[in-house]
Amino acid sequence: MTQVQLRFQAPPSDAASTLTLLPFFHETPSHPEMKGDLALEAARLRFEGKLGDAIALSANVGVFRGLLGVGKSEDHGALRRAAYHAVRMAKEHKVQRLVLDVGDALSPEQATFLVEGLLLTTYSFDTYKKAKTEEEKTGQLQEIYVVAKPRLTPALNEGRVHAEAVIFARNLANEQPGVCTPRWMAEQGKVRAEAHGLYVRVLDEEQLEEKGFGLHLAVARASDEPARLLHAIYRPKGEVHRRLALVGKGVTFDSGGYSIKPGDSMIDMHIDMAGGAAVLGAMDIIGAEKPAGVEVHFIVPMAENMVSGSGYKINEVIRGYNGKTVEVLNTDAEGRLLLADALAYAVDQGVDQVIDVATLTGACVVALGNETAGLFSSSETLRDAFVHAAKTADEAVWPMPLVERMEGQLKSRVADLKNVGSRWGGAISAAMFLGKFVGDAQWAHLDIAGPSMADKEWEYICAGGTGFGVLALAQWVRDNAQG
Ligand code: BES
Ligand code: ZN
Ligand code: ZN
Repeated sequence: MTQVQLRFQAPPSDAASTLTLLPFFHETPSHPEMKGDLALEAARLRFEGKLGDAIALSANVGVFRGLLGVGKSEDHGALRRAAYHAVRMAKEHKVQRLVLDVGDALSPEQATFLVEGLLLTTYSFDTYKKAKTEEEKTGQLQEIYVVAKPRLTPALNEGRVHAEAVIFARNLANEQPGVCTPRWMAEQGKVRAEAHGLYVRVLDEEQLEEKGFGLHLAVARASDEPARLLHAIYRPKGEVHRRLALVGKGVTFDSGGYSIKPGDSMIDMHIDMAGGAAVLGAMDIIGAEKPAGVEVHFIVPMAENMVSGSGYKINEVIRGYNGKTVEVLNTDAEGRLLLADALAYAVDQGVDQVIDVATLTGACVVALGNETAGLFSSSETLRDAFVHAAKTADEAVWPMPLVERMEGQLKSRVADLKNVGSRWGGAISAAMFLGKFVGDAQWAHLDIAGPSMADKEWEYICAGGTGFGVLALAQWVRDNAQG
């Protein structure tokens, strides 16, 4: 949980140890502050205002003042990263307070990114750690002040809304699997949806059965924890010109089932609900911002993929929401089963476009690494729109193909489909499987198996659940809004 307080005002004049930084763009020829000792220090350290550059001098005991390099002004992701460097410097100087004296220097977008970076950098998940004593807290960064012209206040507030939504998603993902079960996660989502006045419904296992969610329920069958599906709807005031759906994989623990994962591969599989968390995070932003003209459905199917006598078996044939039968050849390919039912249900809501987000395949991590998500789509328009949104949000997404010649891989001898293709191109066949459940709707699939979790801290990304996808999804919805 974030312990650092962030305020958008001038700091009080007390004795707190403080580092004050002013943003400095790489292309800026000079800066009013760049004189005297600071100019000498800048020359000594060859400070040019590049992203990652920062200089500060001590004016008094525990009082430092300096410049923060924020890179080139057209690189809009830079401010999020510059915020990380500011926090790092505050920690190096062991100050209690960091002040970012922004004045009028930033655009509203940059101000939003700055606040996102500050809050995301200072996030940590320490629910299960012993609380810090007052003594341990001294010399630690405790508060951040952003001082800016009033015209930037809405942008600063927007940054806070965004960061809190990403942190909500991170907290869900980082919660341990003894607590974060489908019922618990559904409840967290419901509370958040209700706080924004959204329509929300959580389907329980009986309602799922009644509605025919046979693939979803097969995955959940081995677990003592019952399956859930959260469906929230944002309806704008006035006319709706577009209907969208966001669907996120909510597997709160993926043991692999009978196709059990080797021990090491099971580590972090409580984060297999990160797609669902990203959808709930995006819901948090859309619920707060209330964009015009666009109706949004947030759909999160949740289950635990466990092993027991009642678990679904290899070669078992199961029937889904849209009537298609699937032969299960690998119980570890469970995400696509839950999502298949949820996608068919989403399309049934009469949406024009649907995007699903999932920690779906290790193959996607092999293809693109841990930083970049794979984007698959049957529609070039939707694909380009989402790539654009992700770029705006500064989240790394790369287009991947759906390959017609791989169709045969999903054919089963006994059922309409089987749930796995060949090992090669496993991210593609997984995406193609999902494509069988979306009818004629425009659909895109985002495989976030790589960037949803980090094994170590990197800039404003923390180790554990990263909240990846929240900002790109919300941006995509915003891009679809009218007015
Ligand atoms: N949850 C995993 C995918 C995953 C792997 C997410 C690594 C994050 C990091 C998914 O359910 C899975 O097990 N996929 C299998 C598919 C295979 C059985 C066709 C995989 O990727 O090995
Ligand atoms: Zn799996
Ligand atoms: Zn999984």
